[in-house]
Amino acid sequence: MRSAAPERRAVLAGHLDYRAAHLVQIRPSRPSDGAALVEVAYATGFFGCSAEIYFPARALFGALWVGPYLGPAGACGLLAECEGRVLGYVLGSPNPQTYRGYFQKNLPGWLLAAALGRYPGLMGSLRFLWRSLCYPSRRAPLDLYPAHLHINLLPEARGKGLGERLLRAHLDCLRARGVPGVQLSTTLENSAALRLYQKLGFREYARWESPLWAPWLGRPTVHLTLVLSLKPKDFVKNTLI
Ligand SMILES: CC(C)(COP(=O)(O)OP(=O)(O)OC[C@H]1O[C@@H](n2cnc3c(N)ncnc32)[C@H](O)[C@@H]1OP(=O)(O)O)[C@@H](O)C(=O)NCCC(=O)NCCS
Repeated sequence: MRSAAPERRAVLAGHLDYRAAHLVQIRPSRPSDGAALVEVAYATGFFGCSAEIYFPARALFGALWVGPYLGPAGACGLLAECEGRVLGYVLGSPNPQTYRGYFQKNLPGWLLAAALGRYPGLMGSLRFLWRSLCYPSRRAPLDLYPAHLHINLLPEARGKGLGERLLRAHLDCLRARGVPGVQLSTTLENSAALRLYQKLGFREYARWESPLWAPWLGRPTVHLTLVLSLKPKDFVKNTLI
């Protein structure tokens, strides 16, 4: 039998090769994974590259884009881990009210922390926050598609089947909870993600061109809202697409 030691060393060194993919464990995310999840989210938050370019306030980034999913608003969060290193995740919320509640509850604390200068990089992040208010995503009906999700993998973990494993397991978990549907936002720039979503049966709900990312990407992007019905009657239909 082949020793796993060289593969483990490769993973720890950040070189996850194809042979090592079987060493990766998919498991539910926990609040104590917060720091590791923020690490991945921040390293991949700009079309798979570091979010630093448009959002230097790392701590606030974590509070806004990982924090909601670690508490009661989150469900079915999963991560891919190898030898204690988090390689990627799928995080989501099936409950729009609880998700909104997280922001309402935490807003005063964030404003206070900002006023006290506790978010290094905040000034450089305001432009993105302002632009996301000016160019919001288009939401699909929340009664049909109440859940939303985010999926991200570190560059060395991509293209090895982990994204598909994570996403399938997340959708199965939502189905088991009786969630009727899920929606997500993406762009035509995220070509690998788009193929994955299409493979799992997501369909386009809305498509529009937006200048949201133009200051950092150098061009406007075509944004998409994708939806997937999780109702049992649609399951076979979706998997046949
Ligand atoms: C998108 C992402 C989660 C996909 O995960 P992954 O582990 O790389 O994908 P998998 O290896 O599981 O591949 C699953 C399917 O995705 C699609 N896919 C994956 N990589 C692809 C690539 N480089 N080009 C085109 N399609 C690709 C394929 O349809 C593939 O199925 P197939 O191999 O049967 O054709 C991952 O690449 C990633 O984190 N990218 C950067 C962050 C990102 O874009 N997140 C989504 C934001 S909306």
